Amino acid sequence: MNNYIQKVQHLAVIMDGNGRWATQKGLSRSAGHKKGVDAVANLVDGVLERGIKYLTLFCFSIENWSRPKGEVDDLLDMLNRFLDEEPEKYRSKKINLSFIGQLARLPKNLQQKIKNIEQENIPQSDEKLRVMFALSYSGKSELVDAIKKIVKSGIDADSITEDTVRENLYLPNIPDPDLLIRTSGEQRISNFLLWQLAYSEFVFLPKMWPDFEKKDLEEALDIFNKRQRRFGKV
Ligand code: IPE
Ligand code: IPE
Ligand code: MG
Repeated sequence: MNNYIQKVQHLAVIMDGNGRWATQKGLSRSAGHKKGVDAVANLVDGVLERGIKYLTLFCFSIENWSRPKGEVDDLLDMLNRFLDEEPEKYRSKKINLSFIGQLARLPKNLQQKIKNIEQENIPQSDEKLRVMFALSYSGKSELVDAIKKIVKSGIDADSITEDTVRENLYLPNIPDPDLLIRTSGEQRISNFLLWQLAYSEFVFLPKMWPDFEKKDLEEALDIFNKRQRRFGKV
């Protein structure tokens, strides 16, 4: 048993269950997504209080593009509103924002807003927290994109190392997540950060994402603290 508090430097979250939350209440799935956006603020508050430095949020997967057009359009509308209204609030709390995924598949106006937001990030030395939004993201695609960059660089195959791969991921300089939380009771990673989660601890919470509160973060961190991370050693 650990008798010390382990530090989570990077937390990754699969925010799942918006649709079921809404359906159970007789609401539209989009109403669930709207409530889900609100729940992000509860998480970010808790993360700041706990001094966690990096937070990666799975917001929209490449597979999610296959959902009905109406749902995808509603999600893009919500993203658009979020990009207009929220970054300023994050910035005032010294939080920087980054976006990962195949962003070229997003509508052009959203791509431009994302570029502008990233350009306004404050210097890393002043940053309290970095929030990474995974949008149009797939772990397998991130690896394929990394392989393409490596091949194009002309590097000799025998000199490729783990560092070569890491350096070609979407955000090469972020430490791997210590902890992954997934809500809604599903116990899978659904093509999230395949490389980066190699040695993360996984905590699955039964709650649907729109009901996520700060105390759920505390619960997950308590579970994490009871884990023994051995990294293959004894
Ligand atoms: C997660 O909630 C949000 C997105 C994938 C965009 P879901 O929409 O997957 O909700 P469920 O899993 O159908 O309940
Ligand atoms: C994963 O949830 C993606 C996000 C939370 C954004 P999904 O609901 O899309 O995953 P599956 O279909 O249950 O695996
Ligand atoms: Mg889901």
